[in-house]
Amino acid sequence: MAIDITIAEAGQYVNQGVKIGCWMTRRRSSGKIMFLQLRDGTGFIQGVLVKSEVPEAVWEAASKLTTESSLYAIGFIREDSRSKSGYELAIADIRIIRIADEYPITPKEHGIDFLMDHRHLWLRSPRQRAIMRVRAQIISAIQRFFDERGFTRVDPPILTPSSAEGTTELFHIRYFDEDAYLTQSGQLYMEAAAMALRKVYSFGPTFRAEKSKTRRHLIEFWMVEPEMAFVDHEQNLQVQEQFVSYVVEQVLANCRAELATLERDITALERVKPPFPRITYDEALGLLRDLGMELPWGEDFGAPHETALAGQFDRPLFITHYPTAIKAFYMKPDPNRPEVVLCADLIAPEGYGEIIGGSQRIDDPALLEERFQTHRLPKEAYAWYLDLRRYGSVPHAGFGLGLERTVAWICGLDHVRETIAFPRMLYRLYP
Ligand code: 4AD
Ligand code: MG
Repeated sequence: MAIDITIAEAGQYVNQGVKIGCWMTRRRSSGKIMFLQLRDGTGFIQGVLVKSEVPEAVWEAASKLTTESSLYAIGFIREDSRSKSGYELAIADIRIIRIADEYPITPKEHGIDFLMDHRHLWLRSPRQRAIMRVRAQIISAIQRFFDERGFTRVDPPILTPSSAEGTTELFHIRYFDEDAYLTQSGQLYMEAAAMALRKVYSFGPTFRAEKSKTRRHLIEFWMVEPEMAFVDHEQNLQVQEQFVSYVVEQVLANCRAELATLERDITALERVKPPFPRITYDEALGLLRDLGMELPWGEDFGAPHETALAGQFDRPLFITHYPTAIKAFYMKPDPNRPEVVLCADLIAPEGYGEIIGGSQRIDDPALLEERFQTHRLPKEAYAWYLDLRRYGSVPHAGFGLGLERTVAWICGLDHVRETIAFPRMLYRLYP
């Protein structure tokens, strides 16, 4: 009797009779011997049939297989030093599940729009599978990091009555008789949770109706948002550099094969160790001036500025103390210099841009109320948020890391569209 196995397990079943549920990706035949490239979601193995050694019906069934046809392949695992996996399957029998129609994705080059329209099939390619595996490892490392350090996971709502970051980029929806918005950040709710549980994190999808068509923007992206009571700006940065280093280290330890499939230069990743370099916004302006990219004080950086700055360092770069006027309403001003805030963006190396935005939060209720006015935020909507300062306010800080930009950086991808199974982008809602 053949044992049901996966391709990843083939090494444990050498010279044994096995049955593998799989798809055929390529077929070659000399007329006497046939080679089937088989994949089952766990790996690839070559199936071999010798015409003179199998029943006529089996040879005929194999001859009918088209690309992506599904089948059970039954045979013996043999060691094969020439193959990549080290094993091959000597096929004795084939049970066709379904002959596939002519498969639209061929080994020739396809344009990106074609591939995106066929994303549901494109996911089957070795490269896309490798990205999904690295993404899953990053997700699990993120959770391990916080779970092992006394953080409690709390899930903020996705349907919200008001904005967390600013008012322009929200998805508006009807909530019965009220207006509601898809969350753009869970932060404000996580601040409430931190006052209950001290160290918390959220991890889930967030939405931004940004009309940005860049290689770093998605409309729907995943964010992890830790929030910590009794933690200041400096301690916040230490958590971030330890966190990002841990995630990279875990991918290096657990995804070697995937990084090889992606041809990722891992020496760049191996350098990602704390402490990370830090410069202030003012120092960044100075560096940019030296690089011939002068900006007036008070202006925000664009992607080219971030790339130029990151290029000066070999590890992720913190840029701290941005002008108060260009940052979110809740950030705490530097007591020595209130025109800047106690915040930091973490810029990934190699031109991947901002992966983290974080800050110490305003803890003084009067100052927070003042900010509601300058930012024209309706006081009623934020009454509960003000309560957090009225009842037991403490210094606290947190940050948000964008999952897809982190995956793009660690995998070395040009564009965030390949970092999530079904990306939502400006002008793309299908499939
Ligand atoms: O800098 P952002 O807007 O910060 C916040 O939302 C804070 N409330 C986080 C916090 O302190 N709890 O977003 C955080 C990160 C960015 O650094 C980036 O990595 C990612 O979220 N991000 C995006 N990723 C993909 N597509 C987009 N449109 C993104 N916008 C932000
Ligand atoms: Mg930001």
